[in-house]
Amino acid sequence: MRILVTGATGTLGQELCPMLDAQGWQFWATNSKIFDITNIKMVNEIMNKVSLDFIIHLAGYTNIDLAETHKTEAFKVNHIGTKNLAKIAKKHDVPILYVSTDNVFDGEKSSPYDVSDKTNPINIYGQSKLKGEEEILKHCSKYYIIRTGWLYGSGAKNYVDTMLTFSMLRREISVVDDQIGNPTWTRDLSEQIINIMKENRPYGTYHISSTGQAGWADFTKKIFEIKKRNVSVNSIVESDFPRPAKRPKYCVLNNTIELPNWEESLEKYLIGK
Ligand SMILES: NC(=O)c1ccc[n+]([C@@H]2O[C@H](COP(=O)([O-])OP(=O)(O)OC[C@H]3O[C@@H](n4cnc5c(N)ncnc54)[C@H](OP(=O)(O)O)[C@@H]3O)[C@@H](O)[C@H]2O)c1
Repeated sequence: MRILVTGATGTLGQELCPMLDAQGWQFWATNSKIFDITNIKMVNEIMNKVSLDFIIHLAGYTNIDLAETHKTEAFKVNHIGTKNLAKIAKKHDVPILYVSTDNVFDGEKSSPYDVSDKTNPINIYGQSKLKGEEEILKHCSKYYIIRTGWLYGSGAKNYVDTMLTFSMLRREISVVDDQIGNPTWTRDLSEQIINIMKENRPYGTYHISSTGQAGWADFTKKIFEIKKRNVSVNSIVESDFPRPAKRPKYCVLNNTIELPNWEESLEKYLIGK
């Protein structure tokens, strides 16, 4: 299997690529420097020279707050970049797997979001990712759209590692506890991406995140509890610490493919840290 991976240097890509390698699959791990998905001329030139079996599209403009003030850039990557790849997938008649987000929902529900629930993003990041989904649906028949949320994993800067660093410096921390979601380990998600590919699962949209749900304070407390760090966690509200982007208050996904419980996976991730 010959695979193009965009966003290979990101949080998810760094976990997924070694697992693709372990399958014995050939893949081209790219980032914005070597394969800028917004540059259609370059994308076409390169793609005309290679033969592909699959596209894993992880590249994204992922800074939720910055996206509010860099709207054009966010849409350029998440919408136009995804459109470019969707067209390539169609032209080469290969399946494309696009990782999308729980931020396509407005967070007004009080029970987990189904795949068929109405999307209504409340921030630029979510809007631009949804446009990406729409391009995939418009151009491709062989597609997997995978919505997930709250990713953390090895090899990349992430919330869990940042909290561990804080715990060395402080005895108390305030956390904006404005969301409920599914903290998801990139290893668990990567395993399911591989399974989808190996088993030729039916094309379509999937919700894949950890089992259970948590607020940011629960998540933070659990990190400190597992690592036995004596740091007290105070929940604060959005108005105490306003940020540029609104967050969906409730972004728990009703999973199409269930991952392990978030606390179990967090414990595994933290072994040896
Ligand atoms: N992190 C989460 O909590 C989360 C949750 C739900 C969904 N997702 C989605 O999952 C995917 C992977 O997320 P992540 O956290 O791994 O992302 P990330 O750590 O922010 O990494 C983003 C990746 O995209 C690449 N990229 C950015 N602009 C590009 C461009 N113009 N052309 C080509 N590559 C470009 C970056 O390359 P450089 O290294 O060159 O910058 C990097 O490899 C994203 O699509 C994101 O929207 C993430």
